[in-house]
Amino acid sequence: MFKNLLDIQNLDKATVEKIVDTAKKFKSGKLSVNMPDKAVCLMFCENSTRTKLSFELAAKNLGMKTLNFECSTSSFSKGESLEATVDNLAAMGVNALVLRDRTNGIAAELAKNIRYPVAILNAGDGNHAHPTQALLDFYTMLEKMGTVEGKKISIIGDIAHSRVARSNIQLLNKFGANVHICAPSYFAANDFCGAKVTMHTDLESALSGADVVMCLRIQRERLENDFKLPVDDYISGYQLKSENLEKFAKKGALLMHPGPVNPGYEMSEELFKSERAKTILEQVTNGVYIRMAVLYLLLSEGAAV
Ligand code: CP
Repeated sequence: MFKNLLDIQNLDKATVEKIVDTAKKFKSGKLSVNMPDKAVCLMFCENSTRTKLSFELAAKNLGMKTLNFECSTSSFSKGESLEATVDNLAAMGVNALVLRDRTNGIAAELAKNIRYPVAILNAGDGNHAHPTQALLDFYTMLEKMGTVEGKKISIIGDIAHSRVARSNIQLLNKFGANVHICAPSYFAANDFCGAKVTMHTDLESALSGADVVMCLRIQRERLENDFKLPVDDYISGYQLKSENLEKFAKKGALLMHPGPVNPGYEMSEELFKSERAKTILEQVTNGVYIRMAVLYLLLSEGAAV
């Protein structure tokens, strides 16, 4: 069905629907599998809480063996390449590698160059792609709204440095959503592989009539060293608060955030603690089921095994 999970751009709609459908079966308890002969290696060379631990839990829920690769204590320091490392993992019997790294395109490059069949799952590469995050966000929207078609989905914040924004924009476009983005000039971007978006620089027009508001943190780890963030301007122009959601977005609009949230910056402390922000943890719950679905489909039906 699919051999690796590298980005959203190359996933067709039928595959996305299959992943979502499988996640739904896992969540409802209609599907339960035990795959003790499969081994998944987690290689996170950039920090993570949600993605790393939910992939680990997902693999364990499927009865798979998990290995945590420590980038800082590995033989990378002795000059071993990533490709050679993964060939060695294959020789040990590893079936899938979950990779997070700061380099754009590294997962796709790796998938092209390894010599043995290890399924590569991109868990976030630079500001390029975060496919499982987009899938779990999509799944959460479907759970709440039934469809994204024709819905106004506004993504607010540091778009320029966000792989979550890029993967979500591409996925939501495939399924007919009206995607809007909102950022100050220093966080704006337009490189979405041809996906259609409406761009805003003012929060009010982005929020106006929105069905979903997805808030992004400032990705400080990817800011240029000499960039001086105008924090006060950013907060006054772009911070989401209960009052601006209530005033401009549709009644009951979904508030989403991929996490981690930095309350007081992209979102007010008050909104973060509100009932409306509970969806953010529902996204995290759904991440486990989406990652179970992806691992199961890759390792039971994928061509890589
Ligand atoms: N959403 C997300 O990727 O969170 P982590 O960086 O904690 O994995």
